[in-house]
Amino acid sequence: MPITRKIYTLVVCIVFSISSGYASGPPAHAVASAHPLATAAGVEILREGGNAFDAAVAVSAALGVVEPYSSGFGGGGFWLIHRASDGKQVMIDGRETAPALAHVRMYRDRQDNVIKDASINGPLAAGIPGMPAGLVHLAEHYGRLPLSRSLAPAKRYAEQGFRVTARYHRLAGYRAETLRQYPAAARIFLQDGSPPRIGHLVRQEALAATIDAIAERGLDGFYRGPIAETMVREARKHGGIWSLRDLEAYRVIEREPIVTNYRGARIVSAPPPSSGGIVMAQALQILTAFDLDGMSNVQRKHHIIEAMRRAFRDRAVFLGDPEFVDVPVERLLHKSYLEGLALTVDPAKATPSTIIGEGPALLQTGTQTTHFSVIDREGNRVAGTLSVNTLFGSCFVATGTGVLFNNEMDDFSIKPFTPNAYGLIGDEANAIAPGKRPLSSMTPTFLETPDRIGIVGTPGGSRIISMILLAALDFADGRLPQSWVSLRRFHHQYQPDQVQFELYGLTEFEQQQLAGLGHELREISRRYGNMQAILWDKTENLLHSVSDPRGEGLAVIVE
Ligand code: GLY
Repeated sequence: MPITRKIYTLVVCIVFSISSGYASGPPAHAVASAHPLATAAGVEILREGGNAFDAAVAVSAALGVVEPYSSGFGGGGFWLIHRASDGKQVMIDGRETAPALAHVRMYRDRQDNVIKDASINGPLAAGIPGMPAGLVHLAEHYGRLPLSRSLAPAKRYAEQGFRVTARYHRLAGYRAETLRQYPAAARIFLQDGSPPRIGHLVRQEALAATIDAIAERGLDGFYRGPIAETMVREARKHGGIWSLRDLEAYRVIEREPIVTNYRGARIVSAPPPSSGGIVMAQALQILTAFDLDGMSNVQRKHHIIEAMRRAFRDRAVFLGDPEFVDVPVERLLHKSYLEGLALTVDPAKATPSTIIGEGPALLQTGTQTTHFSVIDREGNRVAGTLSVNTLFGSCFVATGTGVLFNNEMDDFSIKPFTPNAYGLIGDEANAIAPGKRPLSSMTPTFLETPDRIGIVGTPGGSRIISMILLAALDFADGRLPQSWVSLRRFHHQYQPDQVQFELYGLTEFEQQQLAGLGHELREISRRYGNMQAILWDKTENLLHSVSDPRGEGLAVIVE
């Protein structure tokens, strides 16, 4: 492939001079995704005359083939879209739903103890997938090309295979033991029962046939007929509870994004059942009470941590699927409520989480997931965050379909209504119920000012939200996406009451000073996140497309 990894360094080559005012659309298209083949799929479709929505279908589908550890046709996702012709902005919610036979105690034994790994491994851990429905919806309602055309690169990658990378090899190592328990999965994703060597060709002929069925028959290709019947039969054979009715009933939902303003920037982000938009909006509004620019680095980080702590507490108590629980969005984002929270921040010391209000500990949501960003020359854009939850989802493949099932059921609160380790009761909003969508942290986001448009997202479980918050603050400070993706990352999620930070995320000095303010600190042993970001600078009419240096993604500008 002739495109290079550091393509963003070439942006100066594509400056379009404009005579006056803002350009009506960007000077080119841009795609940034977590895998070079997925980015190439988007480029292929844009070059064939597809718009950003067609490219989003192509990139999503391709990621599902070449990053089986992160997303796939057996998973789900959120696509935040902006249509240039009328300015319409919605989030297409293709989140998984709990099967009809799901119930609040399904992962607990007779003594009410959580059954180890029951919500992680095997088909009982899987929600009804939303990814195929999301792709069909995008193509039918917003795309320009036939679905079959946009799915063609993914089908090709499945049929002809893709080469195992160092990242694939490493991630398969974490899940090899479980993949071995499911022979249909082990045959595809392992090599003689072990993580495949780098360069090994992973071919997925059955998945190619499934993609073909979706391309030909749309929703009916996946949610009805032979593929649906095989998935249900195989799931049931291995302890799952899916039914044909669950599959037939699956629907994507178009949702109004959460919008907040921060220092002249308009931040457009994911609404429930994602927690991302609300938590980020709350944190940003708390921070408007402070002069972050006038603070030392340590003071600034202390205030950001305190804002995260307070916003994440509300996540744990109030957020869930809005079709099932009354999420008090207006109250949570009300100016006076957030001003009140800001008043509780002590500049001289950390506030212990236990004294800002009751709430349960947030279990780490899946750390994998993936993201892509795309914009076309007309100004249509998509921020897409996709997931099968933890690495390789549930590790279960329905024989004959190639579909790797998610384990998104683990994003529900598995044991609500029960005092947690802190003696607190909560999390009912995210209890399991048939047809319900588990609370997510996926945070596809647009960052907008009159002269700059940003498109951003990342994987990383609950840390997704703090990563996007840091990127939004950096955007508001006028910095470029090269900076957003490279920022050193730190995180607080109310409980456990600790500041988590990636390797080198805080300097020794910052660690000493923050500890002095009373923060407990915990270094996560490795770097986290894999942000894919695009910036369209309207005044210069320049595009920047950037892939996180922590990953193996590819960001390109397509003339
Ligand atoms: N499964 C990751 C998330 O939805 O947050």
